[in-house]
Amino acid sequence: MAIRLGDTAPDFTVPSTEGEIRFHDWMGDSWAVLFSHPKDFTPVCTTELGEVARLKPEFDKRNIKVIGLSVDGLRDHEGWSKDIEETQGVALNFPLIADSGRVVSDKYDMIHPEADDTLTVRSVFVIDAAKKVRLTLTYPASTGRNFAEILRAIDSLQLTSDHQVATPVNWKHGEEVIIVPAVTDEQAKEKFPQGWRAEKPYLRYVPDPTK
Ligand code: BEZ
Repeated sequence: MAIRLGDTAPDFTVPSTEGEIRFHDWMGDSWAVLFSHPKDFTPVCTTELGEVARLKPEFDKRNIKVIGLSVDGLRDHEGWSKDIEETQGVALNFPLIADSGRVVSDKYDMIHPEADDTLTVRSVFVIDAAKKVRLTLTYPASTGRNFAEILRAIDSLQLTSDHQVATPVNWKHGEEVIIVPAVTDEQAKEKFPQGWRAEKPYLRYVPDPTK
């Protein structure tokens, strides 16, 4: 079954490079980014894991725990971790799930048989502290992901969870946001007493409320 936005993220218990992970317990009160890789000792994945390790402080700032997955076993993960540190100049600083039993891959529908029935695709699941799936991405094996974009999208998800706003195209933290259509002008006067800039009645901009 495909996982859809708003679904509860399936729980699981699996081995990882940081010991056994009981996913929901491991998340605690944090958000999580769960992302899969086709296979150990593959070039694109090696660069992605190095980049996530480099960006870890940015995920920490947003109360996000990151966790990777590949369908190989722990011994391979340990050997690959050394290669990642050697080639990317940064050591893994988050767990990598050893999903040789395909427990998580099956629950999260990470194997797309028409692409390859033995490897996981590049899936990303952003899960909030209530364990709800808030964003999903699926990339093919040949295309590395842009984790700066994932951080940007998380900034939008966290902002729009707390305020009745949406973020426009290419928005970045600190830029103007849009009042959601469900908020009438009357309600907007109370929520945004400083006023707004309207380009159309339905296109109303306000400053980022967290700035
Ligand atoms: C990679 O991570 O480099 C990769 C994995 C599977 C197929 C193609 C590329």
